[in-house]
Amino acid sequence: MRDVAIIGVSQSKFGELWNISFRDLIAEAGLKAIKDADIEGADLEAMYVGNMTAGLFVQQEHIASLISDHVGLTPIPCSRVEAACASGALALRSGIMAVASGYHDIVISAGVEKMTDVVDPTPAIATASDQEWEAQQGVTFPSLYAMMARRHMHEYGTTREQLAMFSVLDHKNGAKNPLAQYPMEITVDQVLGSSMVADPLRLLDCSPVTDGAAAVVLCPAEDARKYTDTPVYVKASAQASGTLALHDRLDITTIDSTVHAVRTAYKMANLQPKDIQGVEVHDCFSISGLIAIEDLGFVEKGQAGPALEDGITEIGGTIPVNPSGGLKSRGHPLGATGIAQTAEIVWQLRQEAGKRQIDGIETGMTHNIGGTGGTAAVHIFSN
Ligand code: COA
Repeated sequence: MRDVAIIGVSQSKFGELWNISFRDLIAEAGLKAIKDADIEGADLEAMYVGNMTAGLFVQQEHIASLISDHVGLTPIPCSRVEAACASGALALRSGIMAVASGYHDIVISAGVEKMTDVVDPTPAIATASDQEWEAQQGVTFPSLYAMMARRHMHEYGTTREQLAMFSVLDHKNGAKNPLAQYPMEITVDQVLGSSMVADPLRLLDCSPVTDGAAAVVLCPAEDARKYTDTPVYVKASAQASGTLALHDRLDITTIDSTVHAVRTAYKMANLQPKDIQGVEVHDCFSISGLIAIEDLGFVEKGQAGPALEDGITEIGGTIPVNPSGGLKSRGHPLGATGIAQTAEIVWQLRQEAGKRQIDGIETGMTHNIGGTGGTAAVHIFSN
C-alpha cells in the first residue's frame, strides 16, 4: 500500500443557491480543487462523487455520467458513492484506496447535494432511515435524534442548555467562515427560544437544508511535493457499519459505528485521542455533536455537556471542535459534508484558515456519519 496525500481542495459557498444548477455547482468545486492542486483536468485518472439523493432532490440519477460529461472529462471513469450523509467521506475513502493500492495515481474525490429545489426535503432525507420501521411510521431525522437526546439527558443528566452550547460553539466558529450558510453568532437563550422541531430539539439545534459542493485532489505521497509545498498526508481512513434502525441498538446514546471506525483509525495512525489537535465532527443535530466527542474518545461517556461548559472544545481549547462552524453553521449538503470537513482540516493544516485558525495544528480528524449512524467514517490527516 502507498501513502496518500491531498494536494488540492475546494468548497463552494454553502446555502440556498438559486442561481446555480446541480451540474455547475459540482463542476465549479471540482475545477477549483484542480486549480488548487496545480494540475490539469486531463491529469485525473478517476473521479469519485459523494451524493445521497439527487434523484429525489433534482430528479437526476446517473450523476457520474452527467458530471464527467459536463466538465468535459469523458472517458475518465467517474463513480457515484452513496451512504446517506456519509457519502462524501466514502467518496474520499474510495479515492484514497484507489491511490493507495496503486490502481490510480491522481484522482479527485468530491461531494454535492442540492437540497433546496424541492418544497419539502424531509421525506427525501427520511429515505436514509429504515423505511418499514421508521419513515413509514412517520419518524423523521429530527425525531430520531430527539429520542437520542432524551435518552442522553436521562442517562447522564445532560441539560437542555448543554445541548444548546454545541450550536453556540458551531456558530461562534462559523461566524468566521465566509463559506458558511449561517455565519452569525447565537446565544444559548436564542437556541432555547427558537421554534420546537422535535422535543427537545429546536430549530437552532438542527443543521439546515443546504446546497453545496466540495472537492479534494489526491496523489501518492511520494509525488505530492511536485505539485504543492503544503501537502497534507492521510494517516488513517476507516469506515464501519451499524444498524440502520435505532430500535435495533443496545444503547442509543452511543453510535457503535463511530466507535468501531475511530478505533481502527487510531490503530492505523498509531495515535490516541490526545494527539488530535482539531476535529470536524458530524453534528447534524446538537445531540449528535455531543455524542461524537464522547464516541471519538475526547471525553468520557456522558461528559460532553460538562466539557462544553469547560470550553475545551473551543478554538484554543485542548480539543478544538468544528472550526468550520460544523454542520449547524457551515451547513449540511448531505453528500458534500464529508468532503467539506476534509477541506477544512486541510486548510487548518496548511495554516490557511484565517480568523478560525487553530494555532500550531499538525494532526486533525474528520468524522462523518450516515443516517443515525448506519455508516460512520473517520479520517486522520497530518502536515
Ligand atoms: N439554523 C438556523 N436558521 C435556520 C435553520 C437552521 N437549521 N433552518 C432554517 N433557518 C431559518 C431560515 O433562514 C428562515 O429564516 P428567515 O425567516 O429569516 O428567512 C427560518 O429559519 C425558517 O426557515 P424554514 O426554511 O421555513 O425552516 P423550516 O422550518 O422549513 O426548516 C428545519 C427548519 C430545522 C426543520 C430544517 O432545517 C431541517 O429539516 N433540518 C434538518 C435537516 C436534516 O435532517 N438533515 C439530515 C440530518 S441526518
